[in-house]
Amino acid sequence: MENQKKTFAITTPLYYVNDVPHIGSAYTTMAADAIARFKRLEGNAVLLITGTDEHGQKIQRTAEEKGISPQSQCDKVAASFDSLWQKLNIQYDRFSRTTAARHEAIVKEFFQRVWDNGDIYLAQKQGWYCVSCEEFKEKRDLVNDGYCPIHTNKKAEWRDEENYFFCLSKYQTQLEILYETQEDFIQPRSRRNEVLNFVQQGLQDFSISRVNLDWGIPVPTDPKHTIYVWFDALLGYVTALLDPEDEPTLEKALARWWPIDLHLIGKDILRFHAVYWPAMLLSAGISTPKKVFGHGFLTKDGQKMGKSMGNTLDPVALLDRYGADAVRYYFLREIELGQDGDFNENRFVDVLNSDLANDLGNLLNRTLKMANKYCNNQSPNLKGEQIPAENPLKEIGMELSDRVTVAYNKLNFSEACKEIIHLVTNSNKYIDQQAPWSLYKQGKQAEVEEVLYSILESIRLSAYLLSPITPDLSSQIYQQLGFKIDFNQPSSFEPNINFDVHKSWGSLPPLQPLGEAKPVFLRLELPEESPL
Ligand code: MSP
Repeated sequence: MENQKKTFAITTPLYYVNDVPHIGSAYTTMAADAIARFKRLEGNAVLLITGTDEHGQKIQRTAEEKGISPQSQCDKVAASFDSLWQKLNIQYDRFSRTTAARHEAIVKEFFQRVWDNGDIYLAQKQGWYCVSCEEFKEKRDLVNDGYCPIHTNKKAEWRDEENYFFCLSKYQTQLEILYETQEDFIQPRSRRNEVLNFVQQGLQDFSISRVNLDWGIPVPTDPKHTIYVWFDALLGYVTALLDPEDEPTLEKALARWWPIDLHLIGKDILRFHAVYWPAMLLSAGISTPKKVFGHGFLTKDGQKMGKSMGNTLDPVALLDRYGADAVRYYFLREIELGQDGDFNENRFVDVLNSDLANDLGNLLNRTLKMANKYCNNQSPNLKGEQIPAENPLKEIGMELSDRVTVAYNKLNFSEACKEIIHLVTNSNKYIDQQAPWSLYKQGKQAEVEEVLYSILESIRLSAYLLSPITPDLSSQIYQQLGFKIDFNQPSSFEPNINFDVHKSWGSLPPLQPLGEAKPVFLRLELPEESPL
């Protein structure tokens, strides 16, 4: 059964373990989780891959500075990523660690394929290297007399050593054909243009090994060298595809989930994913992924975030203060994924209180209380098809799933949220206009039931469509509406959830016993002291 479903494989970047997770890593991961959940709702078999990138000079140096072994540095930080993902309610399927033994086997096999294809050669490499980016920089790109443009407090270091090179230049034409024929390979459009411009300038071979660096996978043909951390890390996506009991071979890894449907990354690592990675795959005779989406960068109170600025936002503190649903909703609703976006705690509290506490939460609460009084705590004895087509909520509701599906498929979470909240605000207007409490007093029971049905049903559909973003809230709403469905337990979906039914307006069953009305989203308070 599982094997017959459509598959969808999605990745977050594999995060560096030089430091504890920051909000940027949390941002990519919550977006990836929301898409994965949406695809699961649609009935696909989904594989969400995340993990950690554990080799290279940056990690080795961090461990040396702390006086611990690189492996224990990796183990500690990998565990802190995992615990953050639990707090953020991330349902990942694979956590890929590049120090895993099976990963080494995959990297070696892959290297050998590229070697056998004649795409690796030895030469002298001279250039400016940013250890924080783990990348050579062009001199013209350095700022303030030798500093990395991304890590402006890190001086680039001069390197002059023998390295193995990968023949990227050989793949110029094939990459151009890929971008041409698979037009949405790089998303959003603006990022695609950036890559096309870069490639048009002519691709240069890049070095894929390091000497004098132990913390890496040895080059199979020359163990004095270790494999460049990016060459190794990108293959972490392939290793992650192995089932636990599989032999670590490329053939096994690529059997079920390849090609990956979506690599979700930040814009700073686009070149690696959209240029180097497909070229490496072509060289190894492996088909290329379907899509790479480069999201924007987060700022805090309008300022670039950074340790040197002293204005980093700690995702753990944020989650402890406000909870997973609030954090997920703010970042996904407030920022268009391809654009840069800002975190501001005042704005955070305002958005959440307005959309989730007032508009959605209060609406459910007052409507349930009325259903309790006027309908014996059951859903009204109506079916969606009995509600007239000109009912304003039905009108919006009938089109909502299609619109939201388009938005999710474009990874436009903010549009998805706005569409859903539009139904919610209209439900609030409708309840005030119709005033079911006075219809009840006038003895107009049929009208009361029509109004309450349309509102309860609109809340249900909103909760369903929001569930990839706010799974806890949506589960509570569903339970108060009398469903035995927990959006955090995909196994509770079937046979309870028939996707086509739930995504249509009008599927709240008649006379369903309703749960107790309890606030589903408590108003947030901005603490007077210690802003985040
Ligand atoms: N290890 C590499 C990825 C290898 S993938 C095979 C790496 N790791 S990272 O930990 O430095 O970055 C991970 C992600 O965090 C990147 O997608 C990056 O864009 C993202 N962010 C880092 N700072 C960010 C913000 N301030 N805002 C949003 N995302 C940011 O790169």
